[in-house]
Amino acid sequence: MEEPKTIYLKDYKPAEFIVDRVDLTFDIKDNQTKVTSILNIHKNFDIADKNTSLVFDKGDFEISSVIANGMLLLPEEYESGGGYFKLARTPDIFDLEIISILKPEENTSLEGLYKSGDIFCTQCEAQGFRKITPFPDRPDIMAVYSCTIIADKTQYPVLLSNGNLVDSGDLDNNRHFVRWEDPFKKPSYLFALVAGDLEHIHDQFTTKSGRNVDLKIYSERENIDKCYHAMKSLKQAMEWDEKRFGLEYDLDLYQIVAINDFNAGAMENKGLNIFNSKYVLANPETATDEDFLNIQGVIGHEYFHNWTGNRVTLKNWFQLSLKEGLTVFRDQEFSSDLNSRGVKRISCVRNLRGSQFPEDAGPMTHPVRPDSYIKMDNFYTMTVYEKGSELIRMIHQLIGEKKFRKAIDLYFEKFDGMAVTIEDFIGVMEEAGGLDLNQFKLWYFQSGTPTVKVERSYNPDLKQLAITFEQHIAPDRNQSKKKPLHIPVKFAIIDNKGNDITPESKSLLELTSGRQTFVFGNIPENSLPSLFRQFSAPVKIKTDFTNEELAFLMANDPDEFNRWDAAQTLFVNELKRIITAIQADKELSVSPNLIKAFKKALLNQHTDHAFLAKALSLPMETEIKNHFDLVDVHAIHRGRLFLKQQIAKQLKQHFMDLIDYCSKSDPLSLSHGAMADRSLKNLSLSYLGCLKETDTTQLVLRHYATAKNMTDEIAAFKILSEIHPDIKQTAVKNFYSKWQHDKLVLDKWFAVQAGSSLPNTLNIVKSLIKHPDFSIKNPNKVRSLIYMFAMQNHINFHQKNGDGYRFIADQIIALDKINHQIAARLSSCFNQMKRYDNARKIIIKKELERILCVPTLSKNVYEIVSRALE
Ligand code: ARG
Ligand code: ZN
Repeated sequence: MEEPKTIYLKDYKPAEFIVDRVDLTFDIKDNQTKVTSILNIHKNFDIADKNTSLVFDKGDFEISSVIANGMLLLPEEYESGGGYFKLARTPDIFDLEIISILKPEENTSLEGLYKSGDIFCTQCEAQGFRKITPFPDRPDIMAVYSCTIIADKTQYPVLLSNGNLVDSGDLDNNRHFVRWEDPFKKPSYLFALVAGDLEHIHDQFTTKSGRNVDLKIYSERENIDKCYHAMKSLKQAMEWDEKRFGLEYDLDLYQIVAINDFNAGAMENKGLNIFNSKYVLANPETATDEDFLNIQGVIGHEYFHNWTGNRVTLKNWFQLSLKEGLTVFRDQEFSSDLNSRGVKRISCVRNLRGSQFPEDAGPMTHPVRPDSYIKMDNFYTMTVYEKGSELIRMIHQLIGEKKFRKAIDLYFEKFDGMAVTIEDFIGVMEEAGGLDLNQFKLWYFQSGTPTVKVERSYNPDLKQLAITFEQHIAPDRNQSKKKPLHIPVKFAIIDNKGNDITPESKSLLELTSGRQTFVFGNIPENSLPSLFRQFSAPVKIKTDFTNEELAFLMANDPDEFNRWDAAQTLFVNELKRIITAIQADKELSVSPNLIKAFKKALLNQHTDHAFLAKALSLPMETEIKNHFDLVDVHAIHRGRLFLKQQIAKQLKQHFMDLIDYCSKSDPLSLSHGAMADRSLKNLSLSYLGCLKETDTTQLVLRHYATAKNMTDEIAAFKILSEIHPDIKQTAVKNFYSKWQHDKLVLDKWFAVQAGSSLPNTLNIVKSLIKHPDFSIKNPNKVRSLIYMFAMQNHINFHQKNGDGYRFIADQIIALDKINHQIAARLSSCFNQMKRYDNARKIIIKKELERILCVPTLSKNVYEIVSRALE
């Protein structure tokens, strides 16, 4: 295989030909869609001259005719193939009409125009528009689009595209047409089309300036009653963006379509969002509390893109975080304002530490603004999204909400309708924030997670507390020498009663050099610093707190995030001790102080139950492994189970009481209190379930049988799937017979089985691949079964004989023939290989080399696998 080409930011050049208008016609027939594209083009004389030839991006499809300025070109007058469409000579200003023949029914990549079930739909981000028609498929080409769709009226009664409906009517042979016009200039990646027999729900929103917006959410007929939560979330998002950012919607129509086959979560196409049905459909019987919150978050995310992404877009794909980091920040703020801020922050940080930190320490490490890529699709990463959002959060922290809002206003004042860069964004933050972000910028350009080591020294005579911070970033493939970063540390010193004794005005420390000491006077003995409150910077924090101090912080730190974090550090310390004992073949024990701290938290009736459920959850095996340089798969599994069982055993009655206490709320209510009660109840049940005693197993079975909502049902099912193969199998059968008609619930059914730590799981996963409800063409199914096994089932994926690795490599190879993006995602499960022992490393290496030998391997998988082998 020829080595794929790397694209570099430093090679960026403005386009030589600009497209101002795009008029598309889709003539949809069985097995063939004819696309007519009429483009108004002018040469960009800033960089082109009269001899510059036109080169457009073009996918692998047939062109049936080309007309330039009304003249039909002969096939030898243009070149088509190898990813390009080329015209050697063109006038300076001209119209180009190209007719292309597509076969969406055969398109399994789910990129460009494809079919999901009986529905035609598109996904153009990042570079899918070129699979529809030859085009300068880059985000800095912004044009006005119109789109006419022609199809059979019975099979495809609903025909949608971006913008406003301007015409429609009947044609011969039971066919009809619809014409859409989008008045806003947009890049090609925001184009969308949907055609199908869809049902919809309708609502309205009046913006603060009085525009009446029609809101429509479409789904397959059988799911239409599951769209109301999404609609409610959309209205919440519209209202929130007006209140918090002063941003109003700009069209008269906002449409969302739920699709079953979708590579990502959702897509912000102008006026016509296309969603993975997982982020639209919900009712309490079929969706968990987490699903409900995720839907709210993703609906918000795509809506917020209308300004951050669509109105102001990207100059090139290297700037992806300009829209994604900022929009993730906005959706996190939305969720925090509408639900519990502290609990939301904990989930985000857990996600960041659990997935982004490892990514940044592995072969795929890249700056938030990458310098190069082979396939852009591989850079829709935790780093671009989640770390990108953390960078915005730090700027917000540094300049404060008021100035941040002013800066965002300025951003739109300056750049509305334009394609810009991260530097442009930082520029307005500096201008409106009145500060110098020169050093801060490094966060965007340097990869890797900084480690910040904190040391304290107290002088009792002077009553002085000195805190020394040392920051360090390990060199990696991107930079061999790292410069110190500008790190905001939100902090306070708390006395031995848990009160802040430093003033709020001095609550932000700013680290700017490798090592810095801050001295605080008038500090009583036994005071403690509370550091990085609300996780004020995306760093690994190494403190010198004793377990007693951590227990104190866990109970008393006024900062909720830090109470949770202290509990997690306590757990990790305890787990490390237990795991070391396992490795040394010593007798195992749990320290009484940990149980005491746990019990104290458990009995504190005043705590928010959602927070308590987070604070008392043990880190998962996949999280625990991040605390070791060399991962011992079995010791981690045994150690975690031992700790969990000991806690459960010693606090059994308390968990029982808590379950009763938390069972009182309405099982169908989605109030914060009801959801919080369920999370604490189900956490207690999972502690008890892991004891595998007759009475505790009976209790879980009873909860499973009487569950009135999916949150409780799936929680009990998961616990049962860990107890015993027979118990699991009975639940598996029962769950299937109840839910076999519901695709999204079946995804959960596959996921629970793929996640079970019981020994025979790999064989079960292998047989589930052949299950009639599984399809390797459906990304949700692949994520539930295969990806779940590889990424979450630590003990079974990493089994010593390498069978887990071989199985996943086989799946990557099979999947790559169908869907490059999803195959590449799955390939990243080997990115952590350097943390495992030599025997495992050798097997992984062999499997990666086997993948690399596939002659038809996609660029997507090549990029991930070749980096892993570097
Ligand atoms: N822009 C979309 C979002 O963040 C995601 C698009 C994903 N595209 C991809 N090639 N993975 O909402
Ligand atoms: Zn996004």
